[in-house]
Amino acid sequence: MNRLTIDRCVCRKTPFVKLLPLVREHRWDLADVMRETGCGANCGLCRPYLRRMLATGETVFHEILTEP
Ligand code: FES
Repeated sequence: MNRLTIDRCVCRKTPFVKLLPLVREHRWDLADVMRETGCGANCGLCRPYLRRMLATGETVFHEILTEP
C-alpha cells in the first residue's frame, strides 16, 4: 500500500524542499511565497502545507492538512 505523500505545490510543480531555502534566505511569509513563486496562489490546496513548512521546516507530509 502506498503511503500518502504530499511534498509539492502541484499547480506550480514545485517541491516544498525547493521553496524552503528561499523562505529562509529571504525570510518570506506565506504571502511572500505566494507572490514570489505562485505556490499557494492557484487552487490553494498546498497552502496549509506551506504554512506548516514555514512553521516547522518540514517539506514532506503524510497527512491531510486543511486551512484553519
Ligand atoms: S497545489 Fe499549490 S496552488 Fe494548487
